[in-house]
Amino acid sequence: MKDKTLFVSGGTRGIGKAIVYAFAKEGCNVAFTYASSVDTANEIIADIEANYGVKCRAYKLDILEPNTYKDVYKEFDEDFDRLDYFISNAIISGRAVVGGFGPFMRLKPRGLNNIYTATVDAFVVGAQEAAKRMEKVGGGSIISMSSTGNLVYTPNYAGHGTNKAAVEAMVRYAAAELGEKGIRVNAVSGGPIDTDALKAFPNYEEVKAEVVRRSPLSRMGVPEDLTGACKFLCSHEASWLTGQTIVIDGGTTFQ
Ligand SMILES: NC(=O)c1ccc[n+]([C@@H]2O[C@H](COP(=O)([O-])OP(=O)(O)OC[C@H]3O[C@@H](n4cnc5c(N)ncnc54)[C@H](OP(=O)(O)O)[C@@H]3O)[C@@H](O)[C@H]2O)c1
Repeated sequence: MKDKTLFVSGGTRGIGKAIVYAFAKEGCNVAFTYASSVDTANEIIADIEANYGVKCRAYKLDILEPNTYKDVYKEFDEDFDRLDYFISNAIISGRAVVGGFGPFMRLKPRGLNNIYTATVDAFVVGAQEAAKRMEKVGGGSIISMSSTGNLVYTPNYAGHGTNKAAVEAMVRYAAAELGEKGIRVNAVSGGPIDTDALKAFPNYEEVKAEVVRRSPLSRMGVPEDLTGACKFLCSHEASWLTGQTIVIDGGTTFQ
C-alpha cells in the first residue's frame, strides 16, 4: 500500500479511526473526514505523520448533505495526486436519528430518511467521486461499512438495519457497473462493535452482555476486528472479489 491513498469518512473515532491507523501502518497515505471533532482530527494527523511517515489530512464533511462530498474531494485533490481506496464509514447519531432509531411503532419518516441520506446517499456520492479519481490510476477498491443489524433483529435498530441492507444492495449495483474500470466494490458488515455509536444504545449493557453470550468467542467486537477485512479487500489478494459482503460478527449471527 506504499504510495497509495485511502480516503475514509468518519476517521476520528471508533471503526474509522482504527481504519486510518491500520492503513497508515501499511505505508498508505490517508485522508479522512470529521463532523465536529476538529481537535481530535488534528491530533490524529500529527500522530500518524510523526509515527508512520505517511501523508495524512482531514476534511470537514456532513453526510446529511451528501453533495458537499464534491467540495471535500476538491480539497482532497489539492493535497493528494491519486486515490486508490475509498471507505464509506461515517454514521450519524443523536438528534439526527430521532424517529429513525427506536422501536418500530415510534419510527418516523424524517428520522428514517436522515439515516438513508447518511448511509445510502452519502455512499453513492462519495463512491462516484472516488470512482472518477480511481479511473485515472487504473482502478481501485471501494468499501461500505455495514452491520449485521440488517440480518438479525437488533432492538431499536430498524432504521439503521434497513438502510444497511439498502447500502449492501447499492454496493452490488456499483460493483456491476464499475468493474470495467478496474474498480471493485464490497461491503464489510460488522456485528456489534464497542464504539461510541453502540454506547449510544439505551440498552448498551444489555446488548454487550447478549453479544458476549452469543459469540462462540465470548467477547464483544472491537474496531480493530474490522480493519483486516478492509485491508484485504483493498489488496491484490482480493483482485477477483467484488459485489460481496464480508461478515465479521464473532459468530453472533449464527446462533
Ligand atoms: N459500532 C458498531 O456496533 C458497528 C457495527 C458494525 C458496523 N458499524 C458501522 O461502522 C461505521 C462506523 O461506526 P462507529 O461505531 O465507528 O461510529 P462512531 O464511533 O459513532 O463514529 C462516527 C464517525 O462518523 C462521524 N460523523 C458523525 N456524524 C457525522 C455527520 N453528520 N457527517 C459526517 N460524519 C459524521 C464522526 O465524526 P465526529 O467525531 O467529528 O463526530 C465519527 O468520525 C458505521 O457505518 C456503522 O454503521 C458499526
